[in-house]
Amino acid sequence: MPRKQCSKSRYEPWHIGVLFSQTGWTSDVERTQLCGTLLAIDEINTVGGVNGREIVPVIYEPSSSTDSYGQLARKLMIEDGVTSIFGCYTSASRKAIMPVVERFNGLLWYSAPYEGFEASPNMIYTGAAPNQTIVKLCSYMLRTFGPRFYLIGSDYVYPRQTNRFMREYLLSQGGIVAAEQYVEIHSPRAAFTPIAKAIKDSGADVVFSTVVGQGTSYLYQSYADAGLDPKRTPIASLTTTEAELHAMGCDVGEAHITAACYFESINSDINNAFVSKFKRRFGEHMTPNVCAETAYFQIHLFAQALAKADTLDTDILRPHVVSSSFDTPQGRVGISESGHADLPSRIGRANRSGGFDVLDESPGLVMADPFFLHGPFTEPPRAGR
Ligand code: ACM
Repeated sequence: MPRKQCSKSRYEPWHIGVLFSQTGWTSDVERTQLCGTLLAIDEINTVGGVNGREIVPVIYEPSSSTDSYGQLARKLMIEDGVTSIFGCYTSASRKAIMPVVERFNGLLWYSAPYEGFEASPNMIYTGAAPNQTIVKLCSYMLRTFGPRFYLIGSDYVYPRQTNRFMREYLLSQGGIVAAEQYVEIHSPRAAFTPIAKAIKDSGADVVFSTVVGQGTSYLYQSYADAGLDPKRTPIASLTTTEAELHAMGCDVGEAHITAACYFESINSDINNAFVSKFKRRFGEHMTPNVCAETAYFQIHLFAQALAKADTLDTDILRPHVVSSSFDTPQGRVGISESGHADLPSRIGRANRSGGFDVLDESPGLVMADPFFLHGPFTEPPRAGR
């Protein structure tokens, strides 16, 4: 069994586990998630920590290997006595950690958009469920560009499940699926050349991409090489953030569309302060994105709950997390009983500077509906926080 931290002296630090890849396929975005996590920890420790105790991260490097996430989560819980783990980007890595936190009664804090259809007393999902992004995105793309959608994804659970939602919603709105295609997650650049040609030949109005990691650059670069025009037939995505735009080349990403709860360009006091602190701490070349911002605010949410619980014991801590809310750079965010975040929904168009111009946003928070209890065919319900 993991060592318990709750019986330690009141001056000993709170140890937490941190698992974000600094190398490998998804490291462009996971590096920024680590930055968001460390920035929030610094802020909390600078003002005295939580109940007089510093937060100290125990950080391991999973190197974008799905198996490593599960193995390192075990090490964190069994050898380091950690109970709360902050980490991972892909749903495959989340699913590798989940049995570990369930077996040892830990809590995984997950800060990426995901495919829904999951809930566990050992999980907190601070990224968007599909209903919080797809409904707005699909309606906007249909209205603006036309009905024929080409669905292209990396071949694992997040793209397949997300496309299930997209397909059903698109068809219910009178849209057409021109094609649904998957590419092995670690495919080389050459694999995307025939895909770009097939997109061109299909006459699609919109490409919906659930390609992740390094493959994102390959897709958008191949698309540009094929002479496709993003102003006429943009790629729409939930995962192409500022991090991916910088990796692919900001000119390559320009005019493509992303739906997310956060963009670095949001003009609010709290976000402007966050962006300045992020750049001051990690360098001007580092731009926060939805996953970095979510990784940042979830540490603050954790600290708020920990101050009340005064223990890392999951059974005592989790009730202080659910039904709580917090002012974040994306706006005020709330956590529901199922451990999912109620979030704003925004549409952004990539610009040549590697940022997004916000084109549309929900008037309030969109309630997470990971099991689509409200059905995928209606506008997402709004949370009354
Ligand atoms: C993801 O795999 N949830 C991006």
